[in-house]
Amino acid sequence: MRQSVKNLLKSPSAQASVEVCGWVRTRRDSKEFSFMEINDGSSLQGIQAIVDQGIPGSEDISKMATGASVRVLGELIESQGKGQSWEVRATKVELVGEAPDDFPLQKKGHSPEFLRSIAHLRPRTNLYGAVFRMRSRLAYAVHRFFNERDFTYIHTPIITASDCEGAGEMFRVTTNEGGKAEEDFFGKKTYLTVSGQLEGETHACALSNIYTFGPTFRAENSNTTRHAAEFWMIEPEMAFCNLEGDMDLAEDFIKFLVKDVLDNNEGDLSIFEKFVDKGLRPRLEGLASGGFGRMSYTEAVERLLKSGKKFEYPVEWGINLQSEHERYLCEEVVNGPLTVYDYPKEIKPFYMRANDDGKTATAMDVLVPGVGEIIGGSQREERYDLLKARMEADGLDLKDYGWYLDLRKYGTVPHAGFGAGFERLLMYVTGMQNIRDVISFARTPGSCEF
Ligand code: 4AD
Ligand code: MG
Repeated sequence: MRQSVKNLLKSPSAQASVEVCGWVRTRRDSKEFSFMEINDGSSLQGIQAIVDQGIPGSEDISKMATGASVRVLGELIESQGKGQSWEVRATKVELVGEAPDDFPLQKKGHSPEFLRSIAHLRPRTNLYGAVFRMRSRLAYAVHRFFNERDFTYIHTPIITASDCEGAGEMFRVTTNEGGKAEEDFFGKKTYLTVSGQLEGETHACALSNIYTFGPTFRAENSNTTRHAAEFWMIEPEMAFCNLEGDMDLAEDFIKFLVKDVLDNNEGDLSIFEKFVDKGLRPRLEGLASGGFGRMSYTEAVERLLKSGKKFEYPVEWGINLQSEHERYLCEEVVNGPLTVYDYPKEIKPFYMRANDDGKTATAMDVLVPGVGEIIGGSQREERYDLLKARMEADGLDLKDYGWYLDLRKYGTVPHAGFGAGFERLLMYVTGMQNIRDVISFARTPGSCEF
């Protein structure tokens, strides 16, 4: 029976008969035999097969070139070479699929830009194989975190008529291009969701603790290394919870994910450490065992003003913190992750609970060194009159949001939640510098390949 390379490398003993399938990474030939390194993506490491000339299938050995797929039957024996535990002494080989010599991943050391242009093949490199295994592990850890805390997983819609963030950065969904909204598929204007929060709140106000984890879409034209037009977001929402409880959960969440990766992705971490970020492991270990700084927006602005540093975007109370400010705060001021809370209400969406000072809202952002904002959340405005007034002031059509106001009419409760950008989390735990390199097929302004 076929076994994964990962399991073969972990085998407790030699095995008389094994089968391994995968893609040839390298092959070296001598007169009597060939060495073939086979990788099937189950682990960073491949397994070496020794193919003697004359065994069945060996007449095709010259076609078992880099990129070709092969099946090898043989004996699992202790490796002669250093570094590897086991290798396969082949008794039979089979060429499954040839890879002609224009296979683009012949040599090592391609640029990330080139690899993005062959995003259909890049998972076959060591680095991107590790990225996508990490992505899978991290998604599993997200579900584990919430499951252990009795949060209910909710699937919120992808097509929606409401603009959660109120920023107007939505992709239209239509089957009636250029036609009237009333004659469109849903009888009104619809969009791809920017966040599952509003719908998530409805279920938190019934099941108490819920979370969503799904794709979200933003038509913001920011061509940065941290923005994608399609990205995945995790959004917990808790009834009977205030901003402090929300910040506590956000910090516990990040720590849990980092610990999980440290405990379970040892092999993959080593390649990020080697080729992407030398300081990765100490940074992750520091986060897993240390605390988060916490500071109000007002204090953050004071710190920035006092720093004497000239920022590209000038600092004054009321501005939206830019990534240069966020990075300065966590990299220079607290030297670690930082949660900033109580932002000016003018720059925050309608749903955030107003503070009594009349100026700020119960918003919070979690910032981490290297990436900046990784989480954004808030306590929600649960007071009917205040919420309605703010929605009117923001020009929202109350017809569309009656259901949202109903939550405040029938058994309203203080509640809070946040959104964590899954790709940003992944950038943080891998050290990868560009969001395009942690999602399989990136959607960014001007680019929708594959
Ligand atoms: O801060 P944001 O816009 O918050 C919300 O959408 C709230 N409704 C969440 C909530 O309270 N339930 O987005 C949340 C996070 C950001 O902190 C960031 O990590 C990520 O989503 N994010 C993006 N990631 C990649 N590309 C983009 N264009 C992103 N926009 C936001
Ligand atoms: Mg935000």
